Amino acid sequence: MKIFLDTANLQSIRMYNDMGLLDGITTNPSLLAKEGGDPQKAMEEITRIIKGDVSLEVVATDYEGMMDEGHRLKKYGQNVVIKVPITADGLKACKSLTQEGIPVNVTLVFSPNQAVLAAKAGAKYVSPFIGRLDDIGQDGMGLIEEIKQIFANYNFKTQILVASVRHPMHVVQAAKIGADVVTLPPDVLGKMLKHPLTDIGLKNFLADWEKLKQSNHS
Ligand code: E4P
Repeated sequence: MKIFLDTANLQSIRMYNDMGLLDGITTNPSLLAKEGGDPQKAMEEITRIIKGDVSLEVVATDYEGMMDEGHRLKKYGQNVVIKVPITADGLKACKSLTQEGIPVNVTLVFSPNQAVLAAKAGAKYVSPFIGRLDDIGQDGMGLIEEIKQIFANYNFKTQILVASVRHPMHVVQAAKIGADVVTLPPDVLGKMLKHPLTDIGLKNFLADWEKLKQSNHS
């Protein structure tokens, strides 16, 4: 399973990339707005730091606008994937960009049928938002299971990119289902690293080592 970071925060991106954990990045207009500053500079910098796929989202809502923006964003780096919403214009742009050899991530997916349409339009990634479904009392992870089964039935090549992840158990569940990618907010990735027994165990090892050193000196 590939791990992407779902952020435009350069500090987090550098930190987790230095640990060798990141296969890619996803951004969206809200994540860029959260960081403030010049979004173009931030997007260019992210594509420089990360070797893997970096999803940059269009804000145009019409086909021509999405195509123009897609071409402009693609110039930020070879590894740029254009993110388009699952709308009629978005799917048309997905098909055209894919035919030009520009990979596309279809975002804001909330149903198995939307995922099928994204795959038919040639998307490299489909992004189902599981946390937002959970938020309204629906089964986000159930959607991942359904998409996984449908894509397997028809050997669709589109990768399932689990988005809107809220906690580490989402990651475990996505991995058990066999999702291709999870995109994680930095705090969720941080929580995956931590376990209280690791902290206690390390503290005890160091304390025992100190005791041994003291007894050798006395
Ligand atoms: C996906 O690419 C999106 O950026 C993201 O996962 C949205 O998640 P949210 O529901 O936490 O905003």
